[in-house]
Amino acid sequence: MDKKIRIGALISGSGTNLQAIIDSCESGKINGDITFVGSDNPEASGLERSSKHGIPTFVVDYKPIIQSYKQNPDSVKIPDDFDLDDIITKQHLSSEDTPQEKVKSFLITRAVAEAKLINKMKPYPFDLLVLAGFMRNLTPYFIDRVNTDRANPRIMNIHPALLPSFPGVDGYGDTFRYGCKVGGCTVHFIDYGEDSGPIIGQKAFQITSNDTLDTIKEKGLKLEWELYPECIEHFARGRLQTVRMSYELKNGKKIERTVVKIL
Ligand code: GRF
Repeated sequence: MDKKIRIGALISGSGTNLQAIIDSCESGKINGDITFVGSDNPEASGLERSSKHGIPTFVVDYKPIIQSYKQNPDSVKIPDDFDLDDIITKQHLSSEDTPQEKVKSFLITRAVAEAKLINKMKPYPFDLLVLAGFMRNLTPYFIDRVNTDRANPRIMNIHPALLPSFPGVDGYGDTFRYGCKVGGCTVHFIDYGEDSGPIIGQKAFQITSNDTLDTIKEKGLKLEWELYPECIEHFARGRLQTVRMSYELKNGKKIERTVVKIL
């Protein structure tokens, strides 16, 4: 029997994915244990789920940090190891036409919150960090401090759409409004962009003319609760390998992409 992996989780809301992961750990479907649950939202009801299962929780409330910076940028203590130029170069979270000041205040306030998250996570060593409905983009400041071994990423996210379609905060809504006939969910590793990291697994469902946004969400969430534990179990068994691939397109252009192979 392989050693159980230690899983940390970050949530923002109801935590039904978290519940599916907790249940899968308890039933042995995932060879692992959840070691902590953190949230950016003190009201997240998923925190109660964690406490019921005896899992330690903590909160880093992003809102007052963002508010203080808005009122007076000097009132916010920027982490000593924060390098704005480095983070700006790496991140793909903002588009080129976003005003520099906006990019700067976004990255600084997030790094302040992320430094606090990292601090709160310190007592709980982990092998994998899962984002289970964590509604904050993580910046390179946080990602680089967690993914210390670049060849082996260890932050996973679940997204409510078939990526690369419909990144962003409302995957099922965007799928519905586009008139798609198929919807789905995606588990991927986090990279420096929004929902753009290497895909680990996907599940799809049919959309008929009887479907509403609510029924689409219902169908999607059911699949999420299966997909996330399956992907985490692949990780726990050492079956996920990230590989850098080069492809030549028909127009002669070469592209490079990191993809996940399931061994
Ligand atoms: C899920 O649809 C997930 O894909 C998205 O946020 C939602 C979280 O739901 N990132 P829950 O908190 O797990 O119930």
